[in-house]
Amino acid sequence: MCGIVGYVGKEQAAPILLDGLSRLEYRGYDSAGVCVGGDGALKVAKTKGRLSNLSEMTHGGGDLPGTFGIGHTRWATHGEPNDVNSHPHLSQDGRIALVHNGIIENYMEIKEMLLEKGVQFASETDSEVVAQLLQYYYRKTSDIFQAVYKVLHRIEGAYALGILCADKPDQIIAARKDAPLLLGHGDGCAFIASDATAIIKHTREVSYMEDGEVALLTADRIQVYNALGDPIEKERHVIDWEISAAEKGGYEHFMFKEIMEEPEALRRTIGPRIRDGRIELEGFSVTADTLRSMSRLYIVACGSSYHVGMVGKYNIEKLLRIPVEVQLASEFRYCDPILDEKTLVIIISQSGETLDTMAALREAKARGARILSIVNVVGSSIARESDDVLYTWAGPEIAVATTKAYSTQLMLLDMITLYFADLLGTVDEKTYRKLVTELQTIPDKLEKVLAQKEKIQYFASQYFNHDSVFFIGRNLDFALGLEGSLKLKEISYIHSEAYASGELKHGTISLIEDGTLVVALSTYGPLLDKAMSNVVEVRARGADVLALTTESGEEALAKNATGVLTVPDTAEMFLPSLGVVPLQLFAYYVALQKGCDIDKPRNLAKSVTVE
Ligand code: F6R
Repeated sequence: MCGIVGYVGKEQAAPILLDGLSRLEYRGYDSAGVCVGGDGALKVAKTKGRLSNLSEMTHGGGDLPGTFGIGHTRWATHGEPNDVNSHPHLSQDGRIALVHNGIIENYMEIKEMLLEKGVQFASETDSEVVAQLLQYYYRKTSDIFQAVYKVLHRIEGAYALGILCADKPDQIIAARKDAPLLLGHGDGCAFIASDATAIIKHTREVSYMEDGEVALLTADRIQVYNALGDPIEKERHVIDWEISAAEKGGYEHFMFKEIMEEPEALRRTIGPRIRDGRIELEGFSVTADTLRSMSRLYIVACGSSYHVGMVGKYNIEKLLRIPVEVQLASEFRYCDPILDEKTLVIIISQSGETLDTMAALREAKARGARILSIVNVVGSSIARESDDVLYTWAGPEIAVATTKAYSTQLMLLDMITLYFADLLGTVDEKTYRKLVTELQTIPDKLEKVLAQKEKIQYFASQYFNHDSVFFIGRNLDFALGLEGSLKLKEISYIHSEAYASGELKHGTISLIEDGTLVVALSTYGPLLDKAMSNVVEVRARGADVLALTTESGEEALAKNATGVLTVPDTAEMFLPSLGVVPLQLFAYYVALQKGCDIDKPRNLAKSVTVE
C-alpha cells in the first residue's frame, strides 16, 4: 500500500526521495510524487504509473532543487489512479503539502464544510481534505504545529502523514494513527518512512512512531510529541539487516531470490531456539498453568498468514488436544468473538502492519485475551502491541507474494506447538526428541526440493496456458492447497481454487472436464489411499493431474497422475513446510512463462494498511 518517505538535511532532497520511493515500490502502487521545498515555495511533481515516469519527468529530481521534501507512492482507494489524485497534495494556496497513507473516514463531512467556506478541491481523494483542512486551521492559528493538532482532533480514520509548510523551511511534520511510520536519525539529516527499506542506505537508527504522536523533524533534531502535545523521548532501534537483503543480488525477481533463501531463513528461525535438543523460546511468558487454564486457542491472520494458521490447526489439535479456531482477521473483528482471559490468540503477520490483523489484535486484547504474535518485521505495530512476540527472522521480504515469510511462520508455529506440547506433557519425551531432531533437518531437505526446480519449470511450461486450476488435498494437504492456489492466482492471474478432496463430489467435480489441471496434494501418508481415489476420479473425467507426494509415495501416485513431484519424507507435521516450496516455484514459473509482473502483481500491495 502507499509508501511515504521524507528527508530534511543538507543534501538535495529530490534524488534521495526518488531513491527511497524506489525501495518502497514493492509495497504496491499506481502513481508516485514528490514535493520539495526551497526559496520559500513548495514544488510538486507527480504522475500516474511507474516511478520511472516521475524520475524522467524531473530529470532524476534535478528539476526540484531544495533540501527538504516528502515523497509518496499511491495505491488508490478514493479516486482513480491519475496525476491529480496522486500525492503530494497541496493546499489551495500552495503553502502546505501533504502525503498520506491510510483512509480518512469522515472526509466527506469535512469536505462539505470546507466547500461551503469556498475552498476549492483539485482531487477526489480523502487525503486532499487533510491538506485543505490544514490550510483552514493554519489561517486561524498562524501556527502550523497547532494547526496539525487541530486537524488530528477533527479527522477520523487511519493515517501516516508527512507535512511541509512553505513558511517553515527545512522542517517536516509527521503524524501517525493506525498506519506505519518511522523516523530515521541521520548524521545531519532526518527522515520519515513507511518502512526501513526506504532509508537504510542513509541510516540504521530508527524510532517507531506510536498512534497519536506527532514529530517535528529538522536536519539536526527530531522531537516527538504525544497526543496532548507534550514532548516525549523515543527509544532508538538499530536495524540489523544489510541493504543487500532488500536488493535482487543478480536474480531476475525478488520472488525467486526469496524462495532460494528459504533454507537459510529457516535455519535462522530454528537454530537459535534449540538448546540441548529442546526448544527454547526467547522471553516467552506463557506458562504451563496458563496453557492448562486455556479453553481454546484462536489463530487470526490474513491471506497466506491465515493459511499458516490452517496448517497449524491440524498440528496443534493433534498434539495438544486443545480446540483451535482459525479466523480471518477481517471477519474476526466484526464477529463478536467469544474471548476471555483464558483465551490465547496467536496473531500471524509478516509485515506486522496489516490493518485488519492489527484491529483483530486490539479487539482480542480489549476482551482480555492474551496475545502471542508471530511477526517478521521487527518493531512493527503488531509486534509492539502483543503480550509476547516471536520473530521469524526471514529478513526483508520484497516480492508481494510471500514465500520465505510463509515458510518461517509455519516453522515457528510448529515450534510453538512442540514447545506447548512439551510444557503440557501431551507428547512423550521420545516423540518430542524425535520431532525436534527432525525439524532441524528441514532446511537441508528443502535444499533437495529446490534442486528439482528444472523439473517444476518443465511442468509449468506444460500447464501455463490453463485458465482454471484446482488444488485438492485432505488434512494438512488441504491446508497446503490453500496456499498453493493463492500463490498461483495472485501472480499468474490464472483462476484457481483449493478444495478438500472429499468435497469434490459435493459440487465441484462438475467443473472437471477434458484437460482441466488438478494439482493433487498427496504428501500426508495416513490418507494416501484416499488421495489416490480422488486422483482416479478426476482422471476418469479427463483431468490432467499433477501430483505432489513424498518420495515414498511416488510409485503409487505415478500410476495414475500425469506428472509427479516429490518432497523428501519427514514427520507428518512438517510436510507442508516442504510441500509449499514446489507450489511456490510452480506459481513462479507459470507466471514467468506468461510474462507477468511477478514481484508486483496487478492490484496487489505488500502491506495492506487499509480495510
Ligand atoms: C500472499 C500474501 C498475502 C499476505 C497477507 C497478510 O502472497 O502475501 O496474502 O499474507 O496480506 O499479510 P501480513 O502477513 O503482512 O499480515
